[in-house]
Amino acid sequence: MTVSTPPTVSTASAASTVSAASAAADAILRRQRARESSARTYARSFPVVPARAYGMTVEGCDGRRYLDCLSGAGTLALGHNHPVVTEAVRRTLESGAPLHALDLATPQKDEFTDALFATLPPAFADRARIHFCGPAGTDAVEAALKLMQTATGRQGLLAFTGAYHGMTAGALAVSGGVAVKRPVPGLAADVTRLPYPYSYRCPFGVGGERGAELSAAYAERLLDDPKGGVVPPAAMILEPVQGEGGAVPAPDGWLRAMRRITAERGIPLIVDEVQTGVGRTGAFWAVEHSGVVPDAMVMSKAIGGSLPLAVVVYREDYDVWAPGAHTGTFRGNTLAMAAGAATLRYVAREGLVGRAAEVGARMAARLDALRGALPAIGDVRGRGLMIGVELVDPEGPPDSCGARPPAPGTADRVRAACLERGLIVELGGRYDATVRLLPPLVITDEEAEAVLDRLADAIAAVTCGRDGGGGGVRAGAARRDTGRPA
Ligand SMILES: Cc1ncc(COP(=O)(O)O)c(C=O)c1O
Repeated sequence: MTVSTPPTVSTASAASTVSAASAAADAILRRQRARESSARTYARSFPVVPARAYGMTVEGCDGRRYLDCLSGAGTLALGHNHPVVTEAVRRTLESGAPLHALDLATPQKDEFTDALFATLPPAFADRARIHFCGPAGTDAVEAALKLMQTATGRQGLLAFTGAYHGMTAGALAVSGGVAVKRPVPGLAADVTRLPYPYSYRCPFGVGGERGAELSAAYAERLLDDPKGGVVPPAAMILEPVQGEGGAVPAPDGWLRAMRRITAERGIPLIVDEVQTGVGRTGAFWAVEHSGVVPDAMVMSKAIGGSLPLAVVVYREDYDVWAPGAHTGTFRGNTLAMAAGAATLRYVAREGLVGRAAEVGARMAARLDALRGALPAIGDVRGRGLMIGVELVDPEGPPDSCGARPPAPGTADRVRAACLERGLIVELGGRYDATVRLLPPLVITDEEAEAVLDRLADAIAAVTCGRDGGGGGVRAGAARRDTGRPA
């Protein structure tokens, strides 16, 4: 696929077509602002009205094209409208299969379950059960928490700083974000928050392996402290790489420590693979990097091949709940199962997991190498094609690990500058100061280069006061960011 760039207008008639299309797009955006809720999210940062999308490219109504590094918040493993997906959808539509099937058995569900189980670590899949949930990651998180509360007869939950698990009550309770929780009364109070090993801004102020060791030691000692205030919990839930938290990968040794600590105390371990699954981190499932076998895995996003689908898969010993214990109307989306099965098989067959590891490592290395020329890049991290670039105030005082203050204002301007350059990137992390790259696994080498060129140019333009257009980075001209969240 060729790399897309914003179109050039060559004739007067083409110019008037483009301006009519731009006016139509502006009108749609105006109506959206007038009619949709103030809680709308991505629409605020990306005033784009997509008309067509293919692979990594999104084309707006106004004819502008963008490289999409958001991929439906990490959903589109194969990019937009991959032929494997559209063919599976077309075949299913033509077959006359019911599009809505509650939780009845269908050939598409049977095929999807086969395809999914074939990708799971054998030690987990061999004795696993699957539950089809309402079609969003958050509902599968609810199901996993409720299942473990039912199975253990306990209430409390262990969750981590920086976590994101969704927006329904239980998922929100185990998430870290304070601003979205504060206005909601009565969220499950019995959540014990443990420190996630975030090396760059280490909760213990030491970073690296040592920070991760301290995080594990803290968790273990807290659970064993008879006056530590933690009643034996129903489960621990964690992300192997925190996504919305800013592409923060947990060290494999830390994940193994969490497995040991929970197993020794009879606490079920739920791993949330909603964002990390289906090859994104350079393993089919991110737990495979560490060899950890969890008690439950929560999956959504990419498993539906771009259509809504969410499941929880768990060890059969926990299959204790009563019929209807986690029911819902939209648990039988036939098209999503067909698209998902096709996607899972294609990712496995085409070696896209290894490709994600290789391209991701190359992209991260090139971004890391930019740190000298662009001192606003404080940290480059991630795993596979889940990459975070944390932007900082390069003149602010460093903390005990050497990290400069986060620069959310800079990040906001970089996101806008990327959009101007035909690149869609989203922010995340503690202060929304981390640029997150989640390109599809099918990203070509040329597209990867174009993403990096546009991002580097945008960071240089914002932080060095340089206009875009390919000149060198002027050192010493960095604009000051207060470091405070916008
Ligand atoms: C790790 C993780 N868990 C759960 C969710 C919630 O999924 P959904 O937005 O489909 O409810 C997300 C969404 O970004 C996520 O990243």
